[in-house]
Amino acid sequence: METPAVLTAFVDTCRQAVQGDDARATIHAAMTELFADPASLAAGVPAFTADDIATSPRGFRLGGETLLHQAADLSVMVLGTLPGVIQPPHDHEMVAMIGVFEGCEEQRFWARTDDGIEPVAGRLLEAGEVMVLGERAIHAISAPEHQDARAIHVYLGNISDVDRSVFDPETLEEHPFESDRYDAFCRPA
Ligand SMILES: [Fe+2]
Repeated sequence: METPAVLTAFVDTCRQAVQGDDARATIHAAMTELFADPASLAAGVPAFTADDIATSPRGFRLGGETLLHQAADLSVMVLGTLPGVIQPPHDHEMVAMIGVFEGCEEQRFWARTDDGIEPVAGRLLEAGEVMVLGERAIHAISAPEHQDARAIHVYLGNISDVDRSVFDPETLEEHPFESDRYDAFCRPA
């Protein structure tokens, strides 16, 4: 994907923010501004093509992913979510901020208990909305039937280089996060 200028500028803002005192608030404010007009953002970000969307070993097509920036203190990506798959519960072990600019992400949440996790209320994250997840948050993403979602996910760390967890969707047993295991825990919607 050719990165549009608006996203290059956003990544620059995030990179400066993580050098400062309150990256979370600064990036949240920048995202609130960026997502105020989701339709214009959607028009400016090239759509994922069929080639961008890999089919996993177990046959799931989750959606496209374009990494805009990745470093020890910051990861920024454009993420597509396709209908038809419920992705498994997982955590990030770092603050995550998600803004949807097209369609809608179904967000399910779980809370840690003394002996595992339990489901808590979820929400729809609609185009134009921005959500902040704390370091301990556990969520799972899907897209509503017949409606792809596109979003920007920002992580205050290197999301590809962190020990984190994915959970069995039926037993809620916790496992080390690995992409194969994530795939194995996907379910048809
Ligand atoms: Fe996530």
